[in-house]
Amino acid sequence: MDNTIESLKSTVADLNREIATAHLLSTSEAEEFRVHYLGQKRGIITQLFKVIPHLPKTDRREAGQLLNALRNTAQSTLAEAHSKVAKDSTAASQIDLTLPGRQHRWKGSRHPISLALTKITDIFNRMGFNIAEGPEMEDDWHNFTALNFPDDHPARDMQDTLFIDEGHQHSSHILMRTHTSPVQIRAMLDGKPPFRLIAPGRVYRNETITYKSYCLFHQVEGLVVDEGVTMADLKTTIYSFAQSFFGHDVKLRYRPSFFPFTEPSAELDVWWELPDHPNGGRWMEVLGSGMVHPNVLQAVGIDAERYTGYAFGMGVERPAMLHYGIQDIRVLYENDNRFLSQF
Ligand code: DAH
Repeated sequence: MDNTIESLKSTVADLNREIATAHLLSTSEAEEFRVHYLGQKRGIITQLFKVIPHLPKTDRREAGQLLNALRNTAQSTLAEAHSKVAKDSTAASQIDLTLPGRQHRWKGSRHPISLALTKITDIFNRMGFNIAEGPEMEDDWHNFTALNFPDDHPARDMQDTLFIDEGHQHSSHILMRTHTSPVQIRAMLDGKPPFRLIAPGRVYRNETITYKSYCLFHQVEGLVVDEGVTMADLKTTIYSFAQSFFGHDVKLRYRPSFFPFTEPSAELDVWWELPDHPNGGRWMEVLGSGMVHPNVLQAVGIDAERYTGYAFGMGVERPAMLHYGIQDIRVLYENDNRFLSQF
């Protein structure tokens, strides 16, 4: 290097450009940079300072200023690199690769009532039943009168039925349906026989809320109407349903019962094994059923001489609770994630 202020100026200009484009991504790159430019012995800038005494006296002041500026630039580039590398490494250290994954955190699950309903409707779909629906807010005629409930039947009592509007006449009362049986009436009014349908849905009753009863619950109604339908068809259908739902070795009992809308009527019980029970278990009622009463067919304008039919209705909560070991019906309606996420 020749010792003139001109050659020093051009060297400093080159170094300024070099430093401006330096890309320091790690501690070791920053260290290399420091040694290369600012090293105590061989650093380029350190070396350049040694040129000053060899310059003409009049140029030394300017040379000192140029080199000081260059050194400042190099030092601040270095300081910036150090602080950036430090920030990156704290960010990196906050990622703990040993933590378990979070993929289950927001995964939804199906409500146990939905699971039970799907299981029930799948079985009946396989047996050729269609799905029918009706409103949850009903009138007295569909919910009671057309189903052959006498005017003074206790089920119409304020005690069980949630009334929306009590008009002057029974049949015009608006209420929350107390069962899914009114869907039978609506389906038969809407179409022509043959019918082969189920109607799953919510029903409402004005009951005191306890661990075993709630003001709303779910039912699945069934209806088959055709020529020549018999009670043997009914029994075969509900037995194969019960075997699919509870398992093929389930113990069943079919016993006489009473409903205004069926004649004769019968209820299906399943034997529920309970190791702690003195009898080893107990009979549990699963569904009500029977042959559609001729008065019901008449109410919807179906010729009861030509057509016969059967109907059945089952609750969903009780089998679901037994199946999942749920002790208190209220947890099904509280939407507590600690409960729901178990399914
Ligand atoms: N609706 C009845 C109830 O809520 C259940 C029922 C029984 C439905 C017999 C039917 C049936 O279709 O034939 O308790």
